[in-house]
Amino acid sequence: MKYRLSPSILAVDFGRLAAEIANVEKAGASYLHFDVMDGHFVPSISFGMPVLRAVRACTRLPLDVHLMIEEPERYLRDFRESGADLITVHVEAVRHLHRIVTGVRELGARAGVALNPATPLCMLDYILSEVDLVLIMSVNPGFGGQEFIPASLGKIRELKRLREERGLSFEIEVDGGIGLSNAQDVIRAGADVIVAGTSVFGGDIGENVRGFQKIFEACEKESLL
Ligand code: DX5
Ligand code: ZN
Repeated sequence: MKYRLSPSILAVDFGRLAAEIANVEKAGASYLHFDVMDGHFVPSISFGMPVLRAVRACTRLPLDVHLMIEEPERYLRDFRESGADLITVHVEAVRHLHRIVTGVRELGARAGVALNPATPLCMLDYILSEVDLVLIMSVNPGFGGQEFIPASLGKIRELKRLREERGLSFEIEVDGGIGLSNAQDVIRAGADVIVAGTSVFGGDIGENVRGFQKIFEACEKESLL
């Protein structure tokens, strides 16, 4: 499948963590999105290494770790050793982005960079060729269940255009407020990976994941026309 779903476990019922992860894996999710919040970069606090290790132990899905934390450079090795396959940092949270991206790759993980809704793409001008993934936030980070910010679509289109223009191959991931009703718009704009929390873990997980897959198949057909 050309497009990929990364369910965000922020929205999971934590009393049923292992079973729900097994459900999304069985239903065909591609990655598992792990939202780390520190109460500084974003208002809330979520979870960290011990939970990541528990998640690592119960799935073979690649773990897509989204660090919404200040000074992420202090914790990169710990997250890698706890099971992260992809580590994404926010450009707004760091001073030495190039060093961090290089450091993540030296640890053997894939490196992602994330942009808040109001942060322009030009912040990535001199790092784009070094990253494996760009995460476009389509809500202000910090909480699940928020409404998708429509201006994100233009930003995704522009990023896809930049990728083509420069002949690069990083993945474009979009996170926040995405459900079955707007996933098609997000993919048509240029997303390769969709992050979804509430719209995967609210209700019947298998049915929700299959709903996304149907949309992905339709978009793939459309892109081949
Ligand atoms: C928001 C997180 C998201 C969040 C998405 O700060 O980065 O990954 O879990 O949740 P939904 O899909 O509910 O908007
Ligand atoms: Zn996230």
